[in-house]
Amino acid sequence: LDNGLGRTPPMGWNTWNHFQCQVNEQLLKDSADAMIELGFYEAGYKYLNLDDCWEGHRDENGYITTDPITFPGGIKALADYAHEKGLLFGIYSDAGRLTCARRLGSLGYEDKDAQRYAEWGIDFLKYDNCHNDGSPEIQRYVKMRDALNKTGRPIFYSICEWGKSKPFLWGRAVGNSWRTTLDIRATWASIISIIQKQQMITKYAGPGGWNDPDMLQIGNGQLTLEEQRSHFSLWAALKAPLLLGFDIRNPPVDAKAIALNEEIIAINQDPLGLSVSIVQRTRFYDIWTGPLSDGYVAVLFNRGEIPVVITLYFASHCNLEGEIAVRDLWEHADKGNFATSYFSRVPKHGVTVVKLTGGSRINKHNEPLFLQQIWDED
Ligand code: GLA
Repeated sequence: LDNGLGRTPPMGWNTWNHFQCQVNEQLLKDSADAMIELGFYEAGYKYLNLDDCWEGHRDENGYITTDPITFPGGIKALADYAHEKGLLFGIYSDAGRLTCARRLGSLGYEDKDAQRYAEWGIDFLKYDNCHNDGSPEIQRYVKMRDALNKTGRPIFYSICEWGKSKPFLWGRAVGNSWRTTLDIRATWASIISIIQKQQMITKYAGPGGWNDPDMLQIGNGQLTLEEQRSHFSLWAALKAPLLLGFDIRNPPVDAKAIALNEEIIAINQDPLGLSVSIVQRTRFYDIWTGPLSDGYVAVLFNRGEIPVVITLYFASHCNLEGEIAVRDLWEHADKGNFATSYFSRVPKHGVTVVKLTGGSRINKHNEPLFLQQIWDED
């Protein structure tokens, strides 16, 4: 959406993945404080996003109110609190009669709700798809886009219809990001299945409009260190929104370190804004690569159950030839110069992420020479 927002994917924190409906004013304030004090803001996480369950009723004029028990001070006071700290403030609603948690939705009240959001100082709207009237998604999401535009306030518009009506085909004209899949869970199976569903749509991501494979689950559930690194690396390289979902007041140590890896964040925030694409898939691993404004990135991803050596061929996987300098973005180490390939031993469910610089493109396209989708027996 051409509203000047989302030139790179949004970064922030959202209440849902950890707290679901157990949200209140104090939690939001404490989380805002933690974003600043623990270094998240500094690393680029700017949005403090309140998901479902803040809604109250509609007043006699049809305007939405705030849950008086959990948010007695109202949303504007919270947004002010965030803004004073330099944060941006996001909220949630639904293109249906009720939200997914059965609070009041915005269908039929788009203008009034958008007007309120603008008055409250909202910077981001996640717009969900539960309890709708069965009319086409595109119509209902365009309605809210137009209502937001009318307010004159730039509001990042996050389409959340779970990939139902191929939003990658129309989302760029309507919003700044679009969910591609159903809800992520804090399990390896969920993450793997979402990654697989990104394979055919990576080309739709770009400045102003991003594929959204849902919010991050690092720091939640029983994900291993390697699984969390893989999850974060792939979301970053796919140019997904990086919306943290752990209890940010008390971040798990591993998840915090992962979320603050500035070299991986830099891949996500690269101004070129092109996603990696999958260039090889075997039974046990994936290779995803893509161009950066100042080089190339490759994610060597071991989906399998035992460690595996993965070899990146600069020509076929990256469309590059010549002398290539390789830097490992998890080891934070320069690995040296290589002429044709680079290999790495990747642990079970883990990744090696390398940035390549130097050399030159073999043809003028950004894409690698071959798209190899091979099921070999390794
Ligand atoms: C849907 C969305 C989730 C979350 C909940 C809130 O399931 O996909 O991300 O916003 O609703 O009820």
